[in-house]
Amino acid sequence: MINKINSLAEYLQKYQESVANPENFWEGIAETHFWRKKWDQVLDWNFDGPGAPDVKWFVNGKLNITENIFERNMHMRKDQVAIIWEPNDPKEKEVRLTYGELFEKVKQFANALKKIGIKKGDRVAIYLPMVPELAIAMLACARIGAIHSIVFAGFSATALADRINDATCNLVITSDGGYRGTKTIPLKKIVDDALENCPSVQNTIVLNRTGEDITMVEGRDIWWHDLIKDVDCDNVAEVMDAEDMLFILYTSGSTGKPKGVVHTTGGYMIYSEYTFKNVFQYSDGDIWWCTADIGWVTGHSYIVYVPLLSGATSVMFEGVPTWPDAGRFWEIVDKYKINQFYTAPTAIRALVAQGDEWVTKHDLSSLKVLGTVGEPINEEAWRWYHDLVGKGRCPIVDTWWQTETGGIMISPLAGITPTKPSLATLPLPGVQPMLVDHEGKELKGNGVEGILCIKHPWPGMLRTTYGDHERCYQTYFANYPGYYFTGDGAKRDEEGYYRIIGRVDDVINVSGHRIGTAEVEDAINQHPKVNESAVVGYPHPIKGAGIYAYVICEPLSDNELANIEAEIRSTVTKFIGPIAKPDQIQIVSGLPKTRSGKIMRRILRKIGEGDASNLGDTSTLLDPGVVDEIIDGAKVEVKR
Ligand code: PRX
Repeated sequence: MINKINSLAEYLQKYQESVANPENFWEGIAETHFWRKKWDQVLDWNFDGPGAPDVKWFVNGKLNITENIFERNMHMRKDQVAIIWEPNDPKEKEVRLTYGELFEKVKQFANALKKIGIKKGDRVAIYLPMVPELAIAMLACARIGAIHSIVFAGFSATALADRINDATCNLVITSDGGYRGTKTIPLKKIVDDALENCPSVQNTIVLNRTGEDITMVEGRDIWWHDLIKDVDCDNVAEVMDAEDMLFILYTSGSTGKPKGVVHTTGGYMIYSEYTFKNVFQYSDGDIWWCTADIGWVTGHSYIVYVPLLSGATSVMFEGVPTWPDAGRFWEIVDKYKINQFYTAPTAIRALVAQGDEWVTKHDLSSLKVLGTVGEPINEEAWRWYHDLVGKGRCPIVDTWWQTETGGIMISPLAGITPTKPSLATLPLPGVQPMLVDHEGKELKGNGVEGILCIKHPWPGMLRTTYGDHERCYQTYFANYPGYYFTGDGAKRDEEGYYRIIGRVDDVINVSGHRIGTAEVEDAINQHPKVNESAVVGYPHPIKGAGIYAYVICEPLSDNELANIEAEIRSTVTKFIGPIAKPDQIQIVSGLPKTRSGKIMRRILRKIGEGDASNLGDTSTLLDPGVVDEIIDGAKVEVKR
């Protein structure tokens, strides 16, 4: 078991050790795990040069992550609750699965997957709502060495098909439908639409969740409950190499379609588990709740793999924070006596807007640590969280990390690192951040601002982007050769604390979800009346950033003009999903382009921010007049 750091002095000492000799440091942690065969070498790496990135941790080590969750813990945790599932509707009964029960279900489903021919190395798409079977499906894949690719159940059929095809999945696991607040989402219908264009898929497994009418395709679709009937629970885990793929998770970047971030077995396990007890100071017997969706990396790591590796009790919530009322989060905290609570700033801001009484009427005295993730937290939201939710006695850990990093990278250790509102503070042991200027020169010392890169590999880092290794190099390693480029800008203050400022690339962080501007533009451009579009982020009081689309259309009749905004939104919903719908759509006759045809997004961002007082040099524009027209028609108030 991993020992946690208990004081600032110990943190500083461990940090020094981890930088002086990273291999020794991580080897010591890996030794507390269950390996079928020990590694020959701790690390082999190359961030630049032929084949880069080439990162291997625990070379030739053999293991299975589910043996580290179950077999390793079973002697002491068989009857301890592993997952508490809170349904969307508070009137429905919760489900509690002990480690023993969850283990049986995982082994049985693993055997069921084998029964339909799924084997090590196959890719399995999972498109499920937040139900315990989602965790069971993930762990069963890991048990047999199949690579799961979970797709957030809010993505559209087109987005799902793109992800299935990119990874050539041969199985999709889904449900008839899913509940979110007052809505029922027809997941199976969406899968049916997606599968019209997915030749690699041979089967779907369908869980009965909502009981609505669906079509089952003969020979392809199998009910979950039929599949597991008469399947036994004897299952020996597949032996995996430390560098065998554990999962693929698609995420958006500056260009092109989302890329499949690949995490491997050994390094991800060691790294992500290490972060948990240290950042959240989790103690045996605590009740842990991460409110994320398992469709995103936060849910992969901090609802399923990490708490279960740590022998924790993890709460999983199917619903939304504002239904049946805005007190739902706090009602659940009270109901299960949650000790550590981890959520996104966007949820906090949405709840601040609902009023304090939703919080104060619940007993939150069980809380010990509060966490945030996914986007910068503004000071007002931080204070509300700290003072009202935490009653001033719970440390807040503002955790910075990414899909690509596997686990938390920069964060206070709860109760140990003195915090400052809106600062992610210090790197975890083993993490070597650096700031560089635009030329890639390292900015040394404190009191500097630049682009955040990481100098040295950590075990939880991505290894490649599925099916396109060169893209991985180009995206993360080509800009500043020799370093991992995060895509974020950051400041290091006088004390050496990091404040994450936000993305420096064309990615917008909308409610903590990464949306690529190019992806949204591609979707908008699918509308038959649209000629061209440019999308930028703009400040949004709840979402952090909203999506602002400037769109050039073909000549429109009055009637078409009246409907165009709604139609563009539904086109984006069709091609990506509702999370990427533009908040503001402005129909324009031209876009600010340079003579070489490049859109000057900087100008569009400034207008979206409502400040055109200092647009910088616009003399290189092909048609400078277009800027005034855009300002005149802007959807937000613009200062000139
Ligand atoms: O811009 C940073 C922001 O979220 C991005 C990563 O998004 P994703 O891969 O979807 O993973 C989100 C959850 C790990 C980062 O590049 N971000 C994440 N955490 C923070 C943050 N920005 C500021 N403060 C944070 N604590």
